[in-house]
Amino acid sequence: MSDEQPVKASTKLRGLVQVPGDKSSSHRALLISALASGESVIDGLSPGADVRATAVIIGRLGAEVDQQGSSLHVLGPDEGLRPSTFALDCGNSGTTMRLLAGLVSGVEGVHDLVGDASLSARPMDRVAVPLGLMGAVVEGGGERVTAPLRVHGRAALRAIDYHVPTASAQVKSSILFAGLRANARTTVREDVRTRRTTEDMFRFAGIEIDSVDNGEGRVVTLRPGRPRASSWFVAGDPSQAAFFSVLGAIHDDAQIEIANIDATPERTGFVGVLVRMGADLLVEPRGSQLSLRARSSALVGIEVHSSDVPSVDEVPVLAVAAAAATGVSAFRDMGELRLKESDRFEGALDLVRRLGCRAWAEGDDFFIEGLASARRFSPFEIDAHLDHRMVMAAAVAGSAGQGCVIGGAATVSSSYPGFFSDLAALS
Ligand code: S3P
Repeated sequence: MSDEQPVKASTKLRGLVQVPGDKSSSHRALLISALASGESVIDGLSPGADVRATAVIIGRLGAEVDQQGSSLHVLGPDEGLRPSTFALDCGNSGTTMRLLAGLVSGVEGVHDLVGDASLSARPMDRVAVPLGLMGAVVEGGGERVTAPLRVHGRAALRAIDYHVPTASAQVKSSILFAGLRANARTTVREDVRTRRTTEDMFRFAGIEIDSVDNGEGRVVTLRPGRPRASSWFVAGDPSQAAFFSVLGAIHDDAQIEIANIDATPERTGFVGVLVRMGADLLVEPRGSQLSLRARSSALVGIEVHSSDVPSVDEVPVLAVAAAAATGVSAFRDMGELRLKESDRFEGALDLVRRLGCRAWAEGDDFFIEGLASARRFSPFEIDAHLDHRMVMAAAVAGSAGQGCVIGGAATVSSSYPGFFSDLAALS
């Protein structure tokens, strides 16, 4: 794929999309399998470059990774992981870097973690601080401890009781990975319930872990231990389903089905937001998964709070939905958006302004006055700034509106290499 991607306005969209395997579960399946002794099998792994980076890294740490047909087999060494003589390249992936920092904190020796320009600008102090309290040393650049990172791991860490100051599943998970090697139970407290992927998957791998809701938040307590080798099936990624849900809702002649996505409630908040906006979005639960059907809808502006979509991954495309709605939408408490693969706070404002909307910020809130129809969007050009979700949000706007050209679009392969062919297959 060329790095400059034109997206045509589409007249009609019909069909079924099978989004790739959930990125969060894929990273964790690889890391947990590497820690276990013996063979684990993973099906449905995300094909994105982020997850591939994690797979390469566990190989460097001593796990054997082998693709057999559609399954990935991971053999965790009996004697445990060991430091790599090479730097561990996390590419564009914040999940890889933050979870790995926790994991290697419990592997005696020195570990170098590097990333691309986007990842090297993101704050790692949020994991360096708690991992430091546990006895590891995480060195990086400046006050925000940016990559390249050097982690001095210890075979035995100290258990901590830690309140995570920002809603972050990555920080929670980093501490929990380190907690596997602690001398007693580790407790992590969060004020907003973020995705519980690590908790669920640790439990599945035989780790004793309790999770108790506490107001809007949650208290997680983990007993140290070694995960057992397991068979994993990774369901479709809800955050990718959000792009096609918005596309179906804002396009004026669309019916799009999205099959078999992970139904974990912390991941499907975007569904509730779109329904509140008036989207004709049918949800069909199927066990621990769900399928969605999105049809052309007249949307209205609403108020979206960051806790409606913890981790805020879906906000750029919800901003596109707001741009197609009637009235003003308010996005509240969106400061975390500035710390993602790019500054998505500014990125979302820039995108909707290019569509022709009036949009403004007040502190950590931003507001979008919708154009009442995606067909009123202007054709536009935009740069992705090494951010896969900004590529997909722009493509949704271009397809439902009047087309666009996206610079740096190849970065979409961080999470969804087949995105543009899945999009093209609908028209
Ligand atoms: C993720 C957590 C989120 C999210 C990211 C994946 C995870 O980040 O943005 O795409 O797998 O734990 P934060 O935990 O920093 O919000």
